[in-house]
Amino acid sequence: MEKNTLLQRLVRDYKQNHRESERIYKKALQFQIKGGSHNLRLFSPFPFFDRQCLGSKVKDVDGHTYVDFWQGHFANVLGHNPPVIRDSLVRYMKEGYGLMTGFPGLYQSQLAELILNTIPADKIRFTTSGTLASMYAVMLAKAYTNRELIMKAGGGWHGAQPYALKGISSYDRGLDHVESAGLPTGMENTILITQFNDTEDLEKKFMEYGERISCLLMEPFVGAGGFIFATPEYLQKARELTRRYGVVLVLDEVISGFRFHAGGLQSLYKVKPELSILGKAIGGGMPLSALAGKKEIMNLCDPEVKTSQKVKFEGGTFSAHPGSVYAGLNFLSHLIENQDEIYPQIGRMGKKVRQGIENIFTQHGFNVQCTGGDETLVPYSSMVGVHFLKKGAGPINSPNEACNPEISDIDMRESLFKLAMLEEGFNTFHGYGAISYAHSYKEIQESLEAVERIVNRWERYKLKF
Ligand SMILES: Cc1ncc(COP(=O)(O)O)c(C=O)c1O
Repeated sequence: MEKNTLLQRLVRDYKQNHRESERIYKKALQFQIKGGSHNLRLFSPFPFFDRQCLGSKVKDVDGHTYVDFWQGHFANVLGHNPPVIRDSLVRYMKEGYGLMTGFPGLYQSQLAELILNTIPADKIRFTTSGTLASMYAVMLAKAYTNRELIMKAGGGWHGAQPYALKGISSYDRGLDHVESAGLPTGMENTILITQFNDTEDLEKKFMEYGERISCLLMEPFVGAGGFIFATPEYLQKARELTRRYGVVLVLDEVISGFRFHAGGLQSLYKVKPELSILGKAIGGGMPLSALAGKKEIMNLCDPEVKTSQKVKFEGGTFSAHPGSVYAGLNFLSHLIENQDEIYPQIGRMGKKVRQGIENIFTQHGFNVQCTGGDETLVPYSSMVGVHFLKKGAGPINSPNEACNPEISDIDMRESLFKLAMLEEGFNTFHGYGAISYAHSYKEIQESLEAVERIVNRWERYKLKF
């Protein structure tokens, strides 16, 4: 069977089983572009609409229950709506702390201290999103170094902010072009792209441009670009070169922060950046992100700065929203206190799934690679990415390979496998997604049995891809 024929069948069945979601979606289309506000949530043919999210599960308006591995954009280390946060927010409201107060609040500095004890930096400022934190990181780096160029690792996603909209994911001309209109004129030429995990390319680019580069912006664990860890050699080289050329190293730990242990990936690599971007988990399910870093750089946003280096990293009505801060404080405290139980458990499940999925597909003659694990460096990874590789291709080690349609069949993962897993009762993302502490071993085992059933069907259909 051709891939498209199977896809049509899956779409037909999905539509039949999600009539209420389709109705809501059609209505939403009248008012919203593509029916929503975040493209990743709007998969084709239309998303299901949730009515309850609890622990490992999500219930939709058509009466289905899914085991969810998307888990709030991977933010929910403890699963959906965990009691520790629910209870703390109820307490917070009852005690009358208020929602949007417009005051610094009792808890902000406590959260700042707690984060800076786990992610070593001098100062931290909270924002409402990772996008904003990454934009301010670049502005601070440019002001601090007084340099014009930005170096970004290809395949990195740092939010839709002007300095990060080159070399993300669309591959028609490779990972080296601007992916949005409406940017300041000439922006394209000020962002250089280096290939992730390619030390030679990094050295070459630094030799050529090093003295003009303000910052190297990169994820130590590339999320959207394929769930790929930086190799220790690559990150060490990045540190060495940035130091040699006076370039600010910005590590984006929006996904990796508090995901692999109660802290940043940087401490496992033993690499200290000048600036760290945090988000997702730090708000415990509430909107909260942050930029943390060296005081010489962070100080540039002090309103007292009188020089031309002053950066207007200020404002934001909802910055450090007191409810988010309180949730974040309780969430991170819980992760830190219980880290010896939480991370080994979700990490062991991650390993089981990565190995399980690869084995199942390999036994049936498919070339599938699971990313998200690297035990030499990260003992406990709960992330699982699935890549359907062309015959003889792989193993993949960078977003350039993960996003290249000649190497990896992205449609296969994002539509065919996604819909097939939904049919089996599992909501996956990038092939699988993130395991939380709310997932049980039984659910993990059942998800592997679902994969086995899907592959058996594909084999029976003699699926061609
Ligand atoms: C690594 C990384 N950086 C930055 C962002 C942007 O964060 P936000 O969506 O909170 O703006 C994301 C979001 O997915 C991310 O994965």
